[in-house]
Amino acid sequence: MLTIANLSHTYRTVAANKCLSALHDINLTIADGEFVCILGPSGSGKSTLLDIIAGFLSPSEGQVRLDSRPVTRPDPERGVVFQEPHLFPWLTVQENVAFGLICQGVPKERSKRIAREMLELVGLAKFSHLRPHELSGGMKQRVAIARVLACDPKVLLLDEPFSALDAITRRKLQDELLQIWYRQRKTIIFVTHHVEEAIYLAERIIVFHPHPGRIKGEVTVDLARPRLVASPEFQAYRERITQLMTAEEGC
Ligand SMILES: Nc1ncnc2c1ncn2[C@@H]1O[C@H](COP(=O)(O)OP(=O)(O)O)[C@@H](O)[C@H]1O
Ligand SMILES: [Mg+2]
Repeated sequence: MLTIANLSHTYRTVAANKCLSALHDINLTIADGEFVCILGPSGSGKSTLLDIIAGFLSPSEGQVRLDSRPVTRPDPERGVVFQEPHLFPWLTVQENVAFGLICQGVPKERSKRIAREMLELVGLAKFSHLRPHELSGGMKQRVAIARVLACDPKVLLLDEPFSALDAITRRKLQDELLQIWYRQRKTIIFVTHHVEEAIYLAERIIVFHPHPGRIKGEVTVDLARPRLVASPEFQAYRERITQLMTAEEGC
């Protein structure tokens, strides 16, 4: 279980000598195997929260705990996929996927085998010898997902991973991510500013509000899968969540 307790974060911009409250008093519990979307407009602190859960950033106040242990630094148990795939251009697809394992001291043959398995899982087994510049945007993001999965994280953190992709590729990758989740039942925390994406993917949506970033509300999505975006039930969620996102404070 992941718990976020009384979490606040203030950035200090040294040049302008100003403080900016990016997150204010976030309290959230995420169960093992849950698929949660953090939904909010730009500037609502979504990436700051993900960076803190990943251990890239120490919060100004409060704490994140995974299975009762405080998160203090990055760890392969919390794998991160960003909007940009950040692949190593000089390595092949397979070497990119095996990279984290090699860094952890996993023997070369075993790393290779795991990388091959992960590439199977994301449908890229045939492309393992290519280099990143030979791949499409969707394929690169699949490699980034395979690279993170290779380290067998408990929690998968995704920060707007499909935002740069066209609508058709995005839907394809959303479906593939759901397949991975069905099979592996990892805890997934997926950041997006896209209402439809959140409803399509999540079991629970946490709606964020900006200045400072805080939780506006949460919605449990009780829709059968695969979810049909054109269905009246889906539209009702879209309406409800859009209202929640745009409602004035105190309403
Ligand atoms: N490194 C930083 N230094 C100063 N301010 C930052 C930094 N990173 C983010 N911010 C500010 O914190 C707020 C939240 O940013 P962010 O977490 O990136 O939001 P989101 O991911 O929801 O767009 C924004 O106002 C942003 O300008
Ligand atoms: Mg962001």
